[in-house]
Amino acid sequence: MIGPEQCCACHREVCEDTANKRYVHAPVREKQCALCHIATIGADRTPVAKKEESKVRWLPGSYPRQGMEYWFSIPPALAGKKIILQADGQGKKTLRLEVQLPNFQEAEQLAAVTKPPEITELNVEEVKQGVFLTARVTWKTDRVTDSTVLYGENEATRKNIVDPWLSKDHEMLLTDLQPRKTYTFSVASRDIFGNQKVSPLKTFSTHAFFSKPSIEKTKTTEKVTVSGKYFRVDNRFFARFVTNQPTSMRLGTLDGPMHASSKDSGLQSGKLPSEHLPLVDPRFLNTGVCLTCHPQTKGVLSHPVDVQPKRGMIIDSREYKILGDGRLTCMTCHVAHASDNEARVVKSDKKRLCLGCHKNFG
Ligand code: HEC
Ligand code: HEC
Ligand code: HEC
Ligand code: HEC
Ligand code: HEC
Repeated sequence: MIGPEQCCACHREVCEDTANKRYVHAPVREKQCALCHIATIGADRTPVAKKEESKVRWLPGSYPRQGMEYWFSIPPALAGKKIILQADGQGKKTLRLEVQLPNFQEAEQLAAVTKPPEITELNVEEVKQGVFLTARVTWKTDRVTDSTVLYGENEATRKNIVDPWLSKDHEMLLTDLQPRKTYTFSVASRDIFGNQKVSPLKTFSTHAFFSKPSIEKTKTTEKVTVSGKYFRVDNRFFARFVTNQPTSMRLGTLDGPMHASSKDSGLQSGKLPSEHLPLVDPRFLNTGVCLTCHPQTKGVLSHPVDVQPKRGMIIDSREYKILGDGRLTCMTCHVAHASDNEARVVKSDKKRLCLGCHKNFG
C-alpha cells in the first residue's frame, strides 16, 4: 500500500503548508492522507459502491436519521415499483436492498382515527452555545406524527418550525436564540389522518447553558435486518420499515443521476495521472468523510450542509467553496488541513464568516 511519505513526496506544498500552521487537523497531523482522499481505503467507498451511489436518486426529505421505526410517505407513482433502501447500522454495517413495493391496492388500508395524538415526555434537553446558540426540545407521541415547534420571546416574534418527518420520537433544534432571554414555546404533532395536538405553553431560558448526558446506547455487532409493511390512507401511500438496531435509513430510486457527480462538482480539476490511486468523490471528501469521525455535526446539530442556497442568497464562490451544483459542504466554512485559527474556519472572524452569506444577520 502507498504510504503517507509518498503522498508528501509529490504533494510537497500541501505537507509544507501544513507544517507551518498552528492548528493542524488531527488526522492530517497523523498523515492519514489516504483515509480521507483515497477511494479504495476504508468502508463503503469501493468504486463499485460509488458507481451504484451515483445512480440512486434519494427521495426528497429522506436524509439519514437515527431510528428503529421508519415511516415514509411514498409517492403513489412508485407503487408496484422497485426502490432502493439503505440502512446504515452500527459499526459501519450497511444494508442496501432492492425493495419491491406492492401495488397501491395491495397496501393495507388504514382505518381513520379521529382522536388527536397524545404528547408525552416534553422536555428541553439542552441549551447550548455551539456554532449557534441552540435549544433542543424532545417529546414522544403515541403514534407517528410530524413535529412543529412554535417559539419566541413574545407573541410578535414567535417563530414556527415544522419537520414533516413521521416519528413517535421527536427532536427539534431551536436556533435564532439570543443569550440571557426567556422564551415560551409549544409543540404540535399532526398524525397521518390530520389530527393535531398542541402542547400547553412552556418556557426555557438562555441565561444558563446545560445539556443532559446522552444515554450510551448498547452497541451491537449484529447484521442489520429490516422488515417492511405498506399502508394507504385515502390516496396516500406509506411504507413502514422496522429494523433490529438503530440505523440511518434512506429510500431512493434507481432512475436518475444524482446531483453531484465528480464531473460536475468542479472541485477536483487537476489532471490525475493514470497511476494515481483513485480519489474519493468530492461530495464525500467535503462532507461524508467528516461525518464518519464527527457524527455529532450531522443534520440539525450543525449548520445545514448539502443544501443549496434559497432564492435571494448569493454565495460568492471565490470566498466560499461550494460544490458545482451550488451545495454547501463542511469545507464551505472549514479549511481542510491546517490553519492559524482554532476551528480552522475560512474567516477567523465568526461574524464576518456568517455575514458573507447572511447579509441581513444582526
Ligand atoms: C507520483 C506522484 C504522486 C503521488 C505519490 C500522489 N499523488 Fe496525488 N496527485 C499527483 C498529481 C500529478 C495530481 C494531479 C495534479 C494536481 O492536481 O496536483 C494529483 C492529484 C491529487 C489530488 C487532487 C488535487 C486537487 O487539486 O484536487 C489529491 C487530493 C491527491 N492527489 C492526493 C494524494 C494522496 C492522498 C496521495 C497519497 C496516498 C497522493 N496523492 C499521492 C501526484 C501524486
Ligand atoms: C480529514 C480529511 C483529510 C486528510 C486527513 C487529508 N486531507 Fe487533503 N483535503 C481534504 C479536503 C476536505 C480537501 C479540500 C477539497 C477541496 O477543496 O476540493 C483537501 C485537499 C487536498 C488537496 C488539493 C488541494 C490543495 O490543498 O492543494 C491535496 C493535494 C491534498 N488534500 C493532499 C493531502 C495530503 C498529502 C494529505 C496527508 C498529509 C491530506 N491531504 C490529508 C481532506 C483531508
Ligand atoms: C479520521 C477521523 C477524522 C476525520 C475523517 C475528520 N476529522 Fe475532524 N477531527 C478529528 C479529530 C481526532 C479531531 C481533534 C479532536 C476533537 O476535537 O474531536 C478533529 C477536529 C476537528 C475540528 C476542530 C478543530 C481542529 O482542527 O482540531 C474541526 C473543525 C474538524 N475536525 C473538521 C473536520 C472536517 C470538516 C472534516 C472533513 C473534511 C473532518 N474533520 C474529518 C478526526 C477526524
Ligand atoms: C456555516 C459554516 C460552517 C459549516 C458549513 C460547518 N461548520 Fe463546523 N464550525 C463552524 C464554526 C464557526 C465553528 C466554530 C464554533 C465555535 O467557535 O464555537 C465550527 C466548529 C466545528 C468543530 C469543532 C467544534 C465542535 O462542535 O466539535 C467541528 C468538529 C466542526 N465544526 C465540524 C464540521 C463538520 C464535520 C461540518 C460538515 C458536516 C461542518 N463543521 C460544517 C462553521 C461551520
Ligand atoms: C457559504 C454561505 C453561508 C455561510 C458562510 C453561512 N451560512 Fe448559514 N445558511 C446558508 C444556507 C445556504 C442555509 C440554508 C438555506 C437557507 O436558509 O437559505 C443557511 C442556513 C442557516 C440557518 C438556518 C438553519 C436552519 O436549520 O434552518 C442559520 C441559523 C444560519 N444559516 C446561521 C449561520 C451562521 C451563524 C453562520 C456563521 C457561523 C452562517 N450561517 C454562515 C449559507 C451560509
